[in-house]
Amino acid sequence: MANHSKLLVGALLCLFAGVSHAQAPGEAAIASPHPQATAAGREILQQGGNAFDAAIAVSAALAVVEPYGSGLGGGGFYLLRQAGEPVRYQFLDARERAPQKARADLYLKDGKLQPGLSINGPLAAAIPGVPAALVELAEHYGKLPLKNSLAPAIRLANQGFAVDRVYRERAIARLAALRDDPESARLFLHDGEVPAEGAVLRQPELAATLTQLGNQGRAGFYTGPVAKALVKGVQAAGGIWSLQDLADYKVATRAPLRFALVNQRELISAPPPSAGGVALAQSLGMLQQLPWREADPVQRVHYVIESLRRAYRDRGLLGDPDYVSNPVAQLLAPDYLKSLVTSFDPRQATPSAGLPPAPPWREGNHTTHFAILDEQGNAVAATLSVNLPFGSAFSAPGTGVVLNNEMDDFAADPNGSNSYGLAASPANAVAGGKRPLSSMSPSFIESPTQFAAFGTPGGSRIPSMVLLSMLQYLDGKPVSTWPAVPRYHHQYLPDVVEYEPGAFTQKQIDDLRLRGYPLKQTSRPYGNQQVLFWHKDTAKVEAASDPRGLGVSEVFRTAQ
Ligand code: DON
Repeated sequence: MANHSKLLVGALLCLFAGVSHAQAPGEAAIASPHPQATAAGREILQQGGNAFDAAIAVSAALAVVEPYGSGLGGGGFYLLRQAGEPVRYQFLDARERAPQKARADLYLKDGKLQPGLSINGPLAAAIPGVPAALVELAEHYGKLPLKNSLAPAIRLANQGFAVDRVYRERAIARLAALRDDPESARLFLHDGEVPAEGAVLRQPELAATLTQLGNQGRAGFYTGPVAKALVKGVQAAGGIWSLQDLADYKVATRAPLRFALVNQRELISAPPPSAGGVALAQSLGMLQQLPWREADPVQRVHYVIESLRRAYRDRGLLGDPDYVSNPVAQLLAPDYLKSLVTSFDPRQATPSAGLPPAPPWREGNHTTHFAILDEQGNAVAATLSVNLPFGSAFSAPGTGVVLNNEMDDFAADPNGSNSYGLAASPANAVAGGKRPLSSMSPSFIESPTQFAAFGTPGGSRIPSMVLLSMLQYLDGKPVSTWPAVPRYHHQYLPDVVEYEPGAFTQKQIDDLRLRGYPLKQTSRPYGNQQVLFWHKDTAKVEAASDPRGLGVSEVFRTAQ
């Protein structure tokens, strides 16, 4: 090799070594929405488990202490970072699937939506994915046996946990539906009332189901006695699940959505059937063409809202990639993002009704989130859900499992909108075996010197919340502010800016009104973001939990 080309190779290798930053953080971190879940994850890391084993422990503990948010009866997305050379990213899609008998008109009678059917009771429930994800994590990513990683949750379910403020809020919100289902009332209420704060809630049936899962893997939930009890309970109450639906359920391992940002950063996020990653990439793709960082606060809000408006408009094109073709590449193309920015008015709101409909390329309140980093640099960001608090509020007798109402994330009413006011779209029509479109957006931003993880529950507001946290990060703000930052939201339709109490000053509200923004304050703060930050160059790790919730984040070294 000629000398100059040797030099070139050397320089390239140096550059590559600089970029790869294979070093490990040397510290572990967990940010989860519940102290008992953080403790469960820590216990498993201390036992020699990796981030993926700890993700099993945290998911299962959350199923016990946040039965309103996620659980074995629900689904979710796990975004994984596997340390190594090169680093690998995976996206485990454990979204629920519609049972085979589901049709586009499942919730209609004479063309009219039957209110409540996609919300309460077993007809609202799709086939759960979380149990399959836990098995997948243990078999393909973890170091410990599944049963080991489930042990803290089993203990917690048997011994009980103290009912907290958030449990009470969620149960009060769903009290009528919980009372309507005798098994849910037995499991989650005391004498038909929401248990007092501090009352101990034991869940021996859930402990037994978790034990079966730990001992038998998939067969412990998707075939065998638990599956039989689930199907029997669902059918007896008017649902349409079959044993075959359960036996057929599989986690889909998908390539994460990846989008290059400026300054050697990359967004790694949720691909369809989440609409969240696309919305984040589009919003960041628009914002990075604009001087948002230097803008005054109102002008910055203007840029963010106009980006969100356009990104949420395009949501209507997306659906389950196993059923529809998603125009992701077109939606993220530089020329397209440039054309979206060109349509911004520099000062005034663009009425959503004035925007052309999404381009025709296609032919055809509750949830949870946590993040884990281990000392080797393996990481997980996971958003898990049963959809609304306590899902369908239907529990299959004897299983301890409350079923999701994720079917409402489909376009249950093809001419209307769902619980989050999201407009219906043909790509998201109900079909047997299909996964409903989601907003859940577990995400990383990684560069040669930094790694950051984001995510939150919150239905249609998830992508806007994650975006606001990412902007804090990109603006160099302290990690504690990423989840704390005051929130506002726009989702194209309805054409209104929602904002948390206190998010804007009166002057900002007046200025935004003058720009043509209809504004609506939310009744209370929303979201529950959990974030991590690893400075690869200094090996410093930070984590933060949303001050709105009960979450606990920890950075620690294990004895390993
Ligand atoms: O997948 C979705 O988009 C919804 N099922 C998430 C629901 C949710 O985050 C409710 N949280 N408060």
